[in-house]
Amino acid sequence: MRLAVVLLCALVAVQVALLAAPAEGGELVVGYYDNKCRGVENVVKWHVRRALKTNRRAGAALVRLLFHDCFVRGCDASVLLDASPQNPNPEKDAPVNIGLAAFDLLEEIKAAVEHRCPGVVSCSDILIYAARDAASALSNGNIHFDVPAGRLDGLVSSAAEAQAELPDSTFTVQQLIDNFARKDFDVEELVILSGAHSIGVGHCSSFTGRLTAPPEQINPAYRNLLNHKCHQGANPAVVNNVRDEDYETVARFMPGFTSRVRKISDVLDNTFYHNNLARIVSFNSDWQLMTHTEARGHVHEYADNATLWDGDFAESLLKLSKLSMPAGSKGGIRKKCSIASHPLH
Ligand code: HEM
Repeated sequence: MRLAVVLLCALVAVQVALLAAPAEGGELVVGYYDNKCRGVENVVKWHVRRALKTNRRAGAALVRLLFHDCFVRGCDASVLLDASPQNPNPEKDAPVNIGLAAFDLLEEIKAAVEHRCPGVVSCSDILIYAARDAASALSNGNIHFDVPAGRLDGLVSSAAEAQAELPDSTFTVQQLIDNFARKDFDVEELVILSGAHSIGVGHCSSFTGRLTAPPEQINPAYRNLLNHKCHQGANPAVVNNVRDEDYETVARFMPGFTSRVRKISDVLDNTFYHNNLARIVSFNSDWQLMTHTEARGHVHEYADNATLWDGDFAESLLKLSKLSMPAGSKGGIRKKCSIASHPLH
């Protein structure tokens, strides 16, 4: 009898631990860790900055991770979970999650934070802080916002769910609009967030259709450049922004664009819109924005106003970061971001 009571109490304690932190976006607060783990945001920022010094691509990976985490079951770090015997097909194995990166960096940050304040800070909050800091660093501080925190790490991670929830690069504009509308993002926000494709890379398999698309859909010189790049290995990754391409390749295929080539790669700015107007974007989904009157209008608007985009992008990332877990979901604070602490599923 006594044992049963002890077990019951232990079970209740676990349930309380699982439900302790707020899971609903509305309950998140800026400075959530001020009294729980002082300085945590500085720790995250320090690690992100250090990583970006040697590899700016990690910043692009973090920004994409925020999107891919938050669009599937809300921002619950479910995208960070590795396959396990209990869950052999987690989100990160979904085809739509091809190329996700920066998992090691997040694990490194989590370890540093755990060392400072064990069991206090969720991986989902760390991911949002890190993505915010990456966006800020890659935009030279032009993109900045406060992150309300207090998220829980989720217990569920399904490749099938990620595949169903995330947009695919082969989508039509209507599919993109419908996909974003399901999360309460409108056409303008779709266009704003697509601007993240000013940084990072994509694998050739993510834009195969574009390699043979007609000239009214893609600049033929750019298409030749992409074909050249894609023949250099088995499904290589190619930079999303021709500005980040090596000078010789641009000079060979697109001599008129050499002035765009930059020494510093992955600058997060409104160049995506200029590229889209010039038909030099690699993903079909990005070009699709030009086929829709309202979306096209926003492409022009953000091409013309870099500062407006910086502010609106920050606002939209913040909105993404507030997507919460489905009502009634349980969560906790993982010890390692890749391993579920409470393997209930
Ligand atoms: C609108 C629908 C979107 C589609 C269809 C889409 C699709 C893709 C694809 C196919 C890749 C390349 C994956 C690969 O082959 O490795 C990619 C990369 C990327 N996406 Fe998106 N994306 C979308 C929206 C977004 C949003 C909303 C964000 C962030 C706010 C984002 C940020 C990024 C970044 C930063 C990269 C480069 C990642 C890296 O270099 O590691 N994307 N996206």
